[in-house]
Formats: sequence, structure tokens, C-alpha cells
Amino acid sequence: MIDWDDPLSNKQNSKPINTLAESYAKSEVLNRGTKKKNKISEKEANTTESDPVGNSVDNLEEASTKKTAHTAAIGSLATPSQAQKHADAHLKTKAVVASDKRVINGLADVNQLAPFKYPWAWEYFLNANKNHWTPLDINMAQDVHDYQHSLTDNEKHVYENVLAYLTTSDILAMRNIGLAVMEKMTAPELQIYQARQVYEEALHTWTYQHCIETIGLDQGEIYNRYRVVPAINGKIQLANRRLNSVMRSDMDLTNADELNSFVMAYSFFAGIFEGCWFYNGFTPIFSLQRRGLMKGTSEQLQYIMRDEVLHASFGIRVVKQIMLENDVTLDPKAIRDMWDESEAAEISYAQYILRNPILGYTADDHTEQFRFIANRRARQLGFEEPFPGAKNRTPWLDEQANMRKEKNFFETRVTEYQTGGALNWD
Ligand SMILES: [Fe+2]
Ligand SMILES: [Fe+2]
Repeated sequence: MIDWDDPLSNKQNSKPINTLAESYAKSEVLNRGTKKKNKISEKEANTTESDPVGNSVDNLEEASTKKTAHTAAIGSLATPSQAQKHADAHLKTKAVVASDKRVINGLADVNQLAPFKYPWAWEYFLNANKNHWTPLDINMAQDVHDYQHSLTDNEKHVYENVLAYLTTSDILAMRNIGLAVMEKMTAPELQIYQARQVYEEALHTWTYQHCIETIGLDQGEIYNRYRVVPAINGKIQLANRRLNSVMRSDMDLTNADELNSFVMAYSFFAGIFEGCWFYNGFTPIFSLQRRGLMKGTSEQLQYIMRDEVLHASFGIRVVKQIMLENDVTLDPKAIRDMWDESEAAEISYAQYILRNPILGYTADDHTEQFRFIANRRARQLGFEEPFPGAKNRTPWLDEQANMRKEKNFFETRVTEYQTGGALNWD
């Protein structure tokens, strides 16, 4: 069974193994000696209390080395960044070996998939392809009726503004992965998953558009809200400020300051923007679903949520690997500031969309849930918990990521949405 909040976990087979990549990582760690606070150690990168992804990565590595050939004909996915020019020169003289690969600043040929250095990234790609749908697959007829006849004005306010925030955010996410992150990766197995992620962000935008259009909302007005509603604008502006600085193909990631900026931006993107704001962002509409309202929209969001937990988990994994390979130490105050300003933006947003509570969900629930999820993401990143003691106000949210449980609970459309292959959900 895939745990969609911890998609690479494989509790039945957790025995670590030695692989070429693991040996390489160990030698890197040994050469560097004792690590400082907030520096990711190999152990932290592969096993954390809150992120058993690490253990399972070893298993996936083992599985991948047993596979005889993961050959794939892929085209060039990169624009010629600084790192790529280095790699282009290097490939003329040296065959690709896994130990040559790096997440960034690598010298191995990015057009050659195997041998894998990061087989876990390939597994993310395979898992992502098991969650495939289009918004047209889901019946929205009851939602039209609910919106027109059942929702209160306060509930309509929540519904519309959540969609207004999400649709702007997903375009921003697509551009960040496609334009700022993907080209800086120097291992094709990472870029291939990120290419899938770019597609998924576009699919999410289509999904929101489909909901907005089907319900009959004023599209121009909804899409313009992020400009005119300060609480929505605040989150988008914060994201733009943290992400635009790395949306340059001429970033020199061999420069320590530029690399630090990139790692901070990617930590924000994976840990907060996707890991908290998206993950928690669906919750107000899920609270309607729990009362039997807007179930079509909610089912659409459940599919999106599955993608987003993979995105956040993958991004966190990449951040940790960059820190390990490049001996990156982040400033604890800068990390604290990142959490604080993200919390402030989320409080403002929650107070706007839930200015009047709806049945079963309040602004206070929303912000406390942000803090609870933020602690989880911080642990996964190897950071200190920013909000110790935060309570899990919506324990049903994690279950929402597991469609099988929810489909039985809500008796919505029965959907085995994976395409091809066999996946045992139990
Ligand atoms: Fe998305
Ligand atoms: Fe995403």
C-alpha cells in the first residue's frame, strides 16, 4: 500500500543495503567530519524519525540495482545552464558512472538515465503515474446544485476564495519547477520526475478552471482576486519574493551564497508552499465534503492532494541531498524568519476566507493545522520544529490523502484511478 503522505515508505522491507551511491555518500560524510546544526548528515538524509522515506530509499535503491535495464530514450530536458556546459564538456571524455552524478553541479551526461544515482527519484516518477485522472472524469452535477441551493453565503465565500488562491498558486508552482528548478538539476532521473510535476501543476490549473466554469462563477473576477484581496495577495507576493530570486538560468550554484539562496528557496517551495499551503489549503473544502457538500470538487482536490504530497516529499528529499552533497549549512535565523512570515501570511489568509466560521471549521482550526503540518515538514527537512506543541485539529486530513478510505467513507465514485500495472492499495 502506498502511503501518500510518505510515498516511498515500505515498512515490510526496511533493511538498509550498501550500494555504490551509499558508499559514495558515506565517504563524503567521513571526509567532512563532524556536522553542525542544520547540516544534513547522511543518517538524517536517509532516516529521520518523521521521514521514514529515508529507509525506504535504501530499499528502492536495492530494487533498482536489481533491475537489469531501466533504459529510456529521452530527449534533452535541460537548457544550457552553467552546470550543463560543464557536463557537456565532461561527457566527451568519460563514461557515466553513478558516483559522478550530483543533484546540482554534476558533470555526468544528463541525457543518459542509467546508471541511477537517485533511484528513488525514478520511483517517484513511477508512483506519480499511478495517480492519473482528468477533471472531466468526475461528475460535478451535484456541486452545481449544492452551490446554488445549499451553501450559505459564508460557505460560498470560502469555496470561491480557496479556488482563487489555489489556481494562482498552481500556475506559480508550475513556473517555479519548470523555469527555476528543473534546469539546475544535473541528474536526468530528477528532471524526469520534475517534468511530470510541471504537467501535474498544469493539470491542477485545468481542474480549478473546470470547477470554476462548471459552477458558473465569474472567471475573470475569480482569477483577479489574488490581485485585489490583500490576504490572498500576501501569500502570492511572499512566494514570488522567495522564489523569483532563483528563477534565473545564470545562477552559479558553485557560488556558496547563490547555492544558499537556492536551497532556502527550494526549502520554502517544497516545505511550505507545497508541503503546508497546498496540503492544508484544501481543508476548508474538505470540511464541506464531510458534510456531504461539494463532493465533486472535493474529489478533484483529493487527486490533486495526492500529487502535492509527492511534490513536497520529493522536493524535501532533493533539498536534503543538495545539502549533503554540497555541505550546505542554513542560517537558523533565516529559517525561523521563513516560518514566521509564512505563518503570518497564513493567519491573514485564514482570517479572510473564514472571517465567519463555517460549520465544523474555523480560522483558528486552519492556522493551528498549518502549524502542525509545518512541524512535520520541518522534521522531514531536518530543521527544528517551528511551532512545538501545535495540535492536529483535523486528524481526518491525512486520511483524505488516501482515497480508498475516503471513497468508502463518503460513498463517492468508486475510482481505481491508476492506469496500467497492478497496485495493491492494501
Ligand atoms: Fe499543484
Ligand atoms: Fe505541486
